[in-house]
Amino acid sequence: MCGIVGYIGKQKAAPILLAGLAKLEYRGYDSAGIAVMENGKIEVQKDKGRVCNLCEKKEIENLQGSIGIAHTRWATHGEPSKINSHPHTDSNEEFAVVHNGIIENYVELRKELEKKGYSFKSDTDTEVIPNLIHYFYNKEKTSQEDVNDENNNELKFVKAVKQATDKLIGSFAIEVLSKENPDIMVVVRKDSPLVIGKGYNENYIASDIPAILSYTKDFYLLENLEFAMLTRDNIRFFDKDLKEFNKKSDTITWNAMAADKNGYEDYMLKEIYEQPTAIRETIGTRVNEGICKFDELDFSKEYLQSLTQIYIVACGTAMHAGLAVKSTIERLSKIHTEVDIASEFRYRDPLVDEKTLCIFITQSGETADTIAALKLCKEKGAKTLAVTNVIGSSITREADYSIYTHAGPEIAVASTKAYTSQITLLVLLAMYFAQILENIEKHELENIIKEMLVLPNKIEDILKSTEQIQEIAKQMYKEKDVFYLGRGIDYTTATEASLKVKEISYIHSESYAAGELKHGTIALIEKGINVIGIMTDPNLVKKTVSNIEEIITRGAVTTVVINEKIAQTLDTRIFTNVIRVPETETWLSPIVTIVPLQLLAYYISKEKGLDVDKPRNLAKSVTVE
Ligand code: F6R
Repeated sequence: MCGIVGYIGKQKAAPILLAGLAKLEYRGYDSAGIAVMENGKIEVQKDKGRVCNLCEKKEIENLQGSIGIAHTRWATHGEPSKINSHPHTDSNEEFAVVHNGIIENYVELRKELEKKGYSFKSDTDTEVIPNLIHYFYNKEKTSQEDVNDENNNELKFVKAVKQATDKLIGSFAIEVLSKENPDIMVVVRKDSPLVIGKGYNENYIASDIPAILSYTKDFYLLENLEFAMLTRDNIRFFDKDLKEFNKKSDTITWNAMAADKNGYEDYMLKEIYEQPTAIRETIGTRVNEGICKFDELDFSKEYLQSLTQIYIVACGTAMHAGLAVKSTIERLSKIHTEVDIASEFRYRDPLVDEKTLCIFITQSGETADTIAALKLCKEKGAKTLAVTNVIGSSITREADYSIYTHAGPEIAVASTKAYTSQITLLVLLAMYFAQILENIEKHELENIIKEMLVLPNKIEDILKSTEQIQEIAKQMYKEKDVFYLGRGIDYTTATEASLKVKEISYIHSESYAAGELKHGTIALIEKGINVIGIMTDPNLVKKTVSNIEEIITRGAVTTVVINEKIAQTLDTRIFTNVIRVPETETWLSPIVTIVPLQLLAYYISKEKGLDVDKPRNLAKSVTVE
């Protein structure tokens, strides 16, 4: 939640900050602001609304300063308003701060500061930070001699930030400007992401890499409670005790285009179309001569045999990816597998011990509940494995093992390519378990791998023509309620498809196991209601068709997603719309069947004239509970 950007160099800071914020809007977009060092003063410009509102401001265009910080907000404390927007300054306007995260003890800190004479303008938790920094900075002032010593002043600045953050309970990634130290910026993070991009005589800061990828490929991934003091041509790193250390930078191989729209109308559409590539890349080097390789894992046969259960824990779409692979993992590993919602799991004292393997799926690697659930499992003695898309993300620093999807940056709030890549990687993981456990015949493994390798082509076939889906979207976009049905693995796809339509088109939607409908929900079926059925499992198709016939009798308008083989066994004339997808192995079918349903949600949202990439009330990275 919330995106932050910083620049320190020789160019005008404001345009760089605004361009970075625009790329981070997926993290929050209810207000935005920047602070620039302007002739020895901190100039703050902020407002409610999107980043583009700021771009139009003359006051910002006139800013000449080459050091600045910026923020795009997803409100947690205090409504979206100008006063609650970041950056926030202390009451003496000597320090400016942007913050991503939540300060849990801000009420107590605010009271303490008020007693010391500080006053507050906003309702935010953040405003305590610049005031705390001001307090510690001034407390540190010793002799006139020290004040005039430049190096000492700089260190005093870092020290004040450290003393302030020592007081904070919660999560934070912060950037700080100081009026008395106009050529320096101090940054630090704890449980919220922050990266530093190294340029030539200039440095960049952002919540994530894509925001500043067009300027540099060399990044420092700041760890929890590492402090960085940046000047134009230098970056000094300090640990939590302010001991200076050298940090190694990482070179990123994505290109900036991967984080741009690249000619597509929306990021979501681009990302839907990127799925064949994302899946190819995810399979990438994992498959070689008919076997699955996970060099970063060292699971022995004895360890896997000792497991009594596997827990998959995640949120939202990532949790749906877990549901889609649960039965595959169970069948291939013969280990009982449970899937749970991270925000529920972490508070119900789950039965987890050293005989449990806990897998956490998270595109961003920053989801607060998922990370908290991982920490809990570690405490209980389980091995933890993170499945994420973002190299160096917070979860990878906590997990015993991390494996990566290679979907490239996912910018649209609605997850698409991350989901299909997660399923791909987890099916590969299930096969890897089966190999170690010797649960699978070589030819069987080879057949699944062969089928996986042609999946990207099958998705490309679906993406070649979207007219039919656009037509169905036109029929559906005025609906108030829709239902998605399926059995077995198709039910998991129904659940994800239903979430997609809800989040970007604001149509109320429910997903149901087709056989469960009769136990209550069928009461909601009335003439004209839209129901979408997914049928790819040949063993279950007849049962699902019976359920769909029951609702056709009650007047429903039906759209079914079926594969060619299933189509041959049915009289498809009973359905209003039939979307055909290429046939594949049932375990892999969610990767194929979700694609037309992602497109359907996309086109419904377009028909309604909504902002597909930035649906209301949502943010891409949910770093708060
Ligand atoms: C929906 C969506 C969310 C995320 C969820 C978890 O399209 O994107 O439901 O899947 O917030 O996010 P990550 O995967 O980053 O942990």
